[in-house]
Amino acid sequence: MQDACRRLGIGLRVHFKSLKCGSLAQYLQHRGVRDFLCAKLNEAEVLADAGINDILIANEIVTPLKIRRLVALARRTPVTVCVDDLGNVSALSAAADEAGVRLGVLIEVDIGMRRCGVAPGMPAVDLAREITRRPSLRFRGLQGYDGHLQLVNDPDERESRCRQSLQALDETRRRLEEAGIAVEMVTGGGTGTWEWVASHEAITEIQPGSFLLMDAVYHRVRPEFACSLSILATVISRGSGQYILDAGSKAISQDFGLPTIKSRPLEKLTKLAEEHAFVECAEPPAIGEQREVFPAHCCATMNLHRVVAAVRKRQVESFWPIEASGRYD
Ligand SMILES: Cc1ncc(COP(=O)(O)O)c(C=O)c1O
Repeated sequence: MQDACRRLGIGLRVHFKSLKCGSLAQYLQHRGVRDFLCAKLNEAEVLADAGINDILIANEIVTPLKIRRLVALARRTPVTVCVDDLGNVSALSAAADEAGVRLGVLIEVDIGMRRCGVAPGMPAVDLAREITRRPSLRFRGLQGYDGHLQLVNDPDERESRCRQSLQALDETRRRLEEAGIAVEMVTGGGTGTWEWVASHEAITEIQPGSFLLMDAVYHRVRPEFACSLSILATVISRGSGQYILDAGSKAISQDFGLPTIKSRPLEKLTKLAEEHAFVECAEPPAIGEQREVFPAHCCATMNLHRVVAAVRKRQVESFWPIEASGRYD
C-alpha cells in the first residue's frame, strides 16, 4: 500500500479504528507511516499517547463534553475534525477560541454513502466560507468516504461506482477553488476502493484501515492483502464430522458473517455461539489441537480484545495492549 501510494505521489493515512492499538501504530510509524486517522475521540487520545501527531478524526464531534476533550487534545497535538453542520462549526470555533487553540477542519461530503456529510457542490462552499471566517478554525479541505462501495463484490461495478462518487468530490473541490478557497487536502477511500481513489487527480491521500489486519470477508474482495489477524483457538470437543473450538462470538466478531479457518479449506466454520465455534470437517482434529481463525471483520474483532500478540515466524515477539478496544467514547 505504501509503495503504491509513493508511486502515485499521494499520501497514505492509516485508519486507527481498525487497529485500536497504540503499539501497532508505533510499529507502523517506525516503518514510515506518518499519518493516521480515527473515528472516535478515545482513539485520537490513544494515538496522541502513542506519540502520533497531526491526527484526523474522520467524524463529527458535537456534544459540549466531547468538544472540550477535543480542544484539550488540540493543546497536545494538531487535530483535524470533520464537520457537516454550521451549528457544529460555531460550537467548535467558540470552544477553540476559549481554549486558545486552532482546530483543523475538513468538510465531510456525502458522496453516496448517506451517512454523515453535506451534499456535494455549493453546500460545501457555503459551509467553507463560514469556516474561513472563524480564526480559531483552519479550513483544510474535504473528506469523501465511499463506505457503501467497499464490499461490492463485482470489481467492475465497484470501480465504476467509485469513479462516479469521486466526480462529486472533484466537482466540490473545483467549486471551492473557484470561490477562492484553498483546498489543501482531499481524503477518502478504503481497502475496497483504494487504488481507484489513490489514482484520482482530485485526491491528496487515501484513508484505508482494514488492509493491515484484513479479514475473511475483505480478503475475498481484495486478495492482494493477506490476513494478518487471527484468533488462536483450541479444539475442546469432537464428534462425527464436527469439532468445537473454544472461541465464540465474544472472541470473534460475526457482524460481517462467518469466520474461516486458516490454511484449512476443508474445515468449514458453520456457527458461532457465545463461547464456542462449530466446525464441520470429515476428519475432526484431536482435542487440544489448535486452529487459527480468520475473523469476518477485523475492526470489530480488535474491539473485543484487550491484548494482541505480535507474532513473527510463529514466535511471539510482544504482547500489545489494545487501548481503544471496548470503547465508543
Ligand atoms: C471515514 C472512513 N474512512 C476510511 C475507512 C477505512 O475503511 P477500510 O477499513 O475499509 O479500509 C472507514 C471505515 O469504516 C471510514 O469510516
